[in-house]
Amino acid sequence: MKIIVTENYDEMSKKAAEIIIDVIKNNPNAVLGLATGSSPIGTYRNMINDHKENGTSYKNVSTVNLDEYVSLDKDHDQSYAYFMRKNLFDELDIDQTNTHLPCGTAKDLAKECDRYNGILAKLVPDVQVLGIGSNGHIGFNEPGTPLDSVTHVVDLTESTIKDNSRLFASVDEVPKQALSMGIKNIMQAKSIVMVVSGKNKAEAVKGMVNGEITPELPASVLQLHPFVTLVCDKGAASLL
Ligand code: F6R
Repeated sequence: MKIIVTENYDEMSKKAAEIIIDVIKNNPNAVLGLATGSSPIGTYRNMINDHKENGTSYKNVSTVNLDEYVSLDKDHDQSYAYFMRKNLFDELDIDQTNTHLPCGTAKDLAKECDRYNGILAKLVPDVQVLGIGSNGHIGFNEPGTPLDSVTHVVDLTESTIKDNSRLFASVDEVPKQALSMGIKNIMQAKSIVMVVSGKNKAEAVKGMVNGEITPELPASVLQLHPFVTLVCDKGAASLL
């Protein structure tokens, strides 16, 4: 795992965006695997600025997202589909029919997982953006998720519901389930860029980089991937 430690969130975001922009410059038909949450917002902002200032084009880029809440419509302001439009897609020249997320309002969630696995079989990310949960989750693969899992329905843990409640009016409004790419799907990406900021993630980062590879800390599996770049700020790196 290549590790880049930055002074702060802004520098982390700039470095991560540079890596992704390089992938697109080398391959204008690239597939990007994308994440939501606080960690990649700055990275996306840098990609938007680069698109506007330098003209990097996303016309032929496709994207697949890691996850989506069950029960939130794509226009709900806390859905990940809405997040992606507001924080990235609406500001790029990307063809939004080439952007893919699991559908959290599908009637048959098992079928929706199959549909999404079918998409992932065709669209293998050239680079997958990841964040990490304070409990070591990647995507919504909570501790205990088998390392060979593919897209599945997840019961969110209390710790993740609590972490994510900051974005909802109350903790009761946070959906209790999500659809998530599995760990096996994530590991199929050709390369991975993980962005992590803040001391509250330091313990998870330490386990991911130096700990045992175990389903109890899903991100530890990244030790087995040949092309992972961890871009983290000083706080997140403080226990390395
Ligand atoms: C988001 C996702 C999650 C987040 C993680 C960190 O699509 O899959 O694994 O990356 O929960 O979230 P933030 O960045 O908000 O701390």
